[in-house]
Amino acid sequence: MSKKEKLQELEQRMINDKSLPLKTNLVFGEGNINTAILFIGEAPGATEDQLKRPFVGRGGKLLDNLIASSGWKREDFYITNIVKRRPPDNRDPFPEEIEAYKPYLTEQIEIIKPKIIVTLGRFAMNYFMPMAKITRDQGKIFRVGGRLIVPMLHPAAALRSTEMNLQLKKSFKKLPIILKKADEFLSAPKNSEKENKNILKPPAQEKLF
Ligand code: URA
Repeated sequence: MSKKEKLQELEQRMINDKSLPLKTNLVFGEGNINTAILFIGEAPGATEDQLKRPFVGRGGKLLDNLIASSGWKREDFYITNIVKRRPPDNRDPFPEEIEAYKPYLTEQIEIIKPKIIVTLGRFAMNYFMPMAKITRDQGKIFRVGGRLIVPMLHPAAALRSTEMNLQLKKSFKKLPIILKKADEFLSAPKNSEKENKNILKPPAQEKLF
C-alpha cells in the first residue's frame, strides 16, 4: 500500500470505530504526506468541524501567515490534531479522549514519518513530553523517539496576547534552520546528563540559538 492508501485506510478505520469519543465530524488531517515537518494541534474547533479540515479558523489563518513568513506554503506540510473531533463548546480535551485517539495518531505519524513534529499548544506538547512546561519549553528542540519535537504556543493563545504572538513568531523563525539541521540533531550522540525521562535536548542547541 502507498502512504496515501495507508492514510485513507486509517481514516476509514477511524470513521468506523464507534468506540471513539466525541460525535462531531472527523477532522483527520491534511497536507503533504511526504513532509519533513508535521504540525499537531489540540482538537478541531467549530470551523474545522464544519469544513472537516484542521486549522482553518482564525488560529489557522495565523498559522498560515507564520508558514508564509518563512517562505513556505501550508501545503508543504501536514497538519493534524491529537484529538480528531471537536469537544463541545471548544472545551479542553479530556485525558481519556486524548488516550482514545492516541493509537490512531501514533499510526498516522508512523505512516508520514516526519523528522520534526511541531506541537501547537500545551496539550499536543504534553502528549509527547508529559513533563514539559509550555512557557519554559516553547521554542526549544527536543529529541523524542528518533524525531525532533519543537513545542510552540497555540495560535489561539497568540491571538489573545501580543506577548504570546511575539513569542510564537520568534519560535517559528527558528524552523528553517531546525529543518536544515534536523539530520545533524537526530544523529547527535545522546547526552545523558541532559536526559530528562523522554526529553532530550540536542547538544547543538545552545550553539545554534
Ligand atoms: N485549534 C486546534 O488545536 N486545532 C485545530 O484544528 C483548530 C484549532
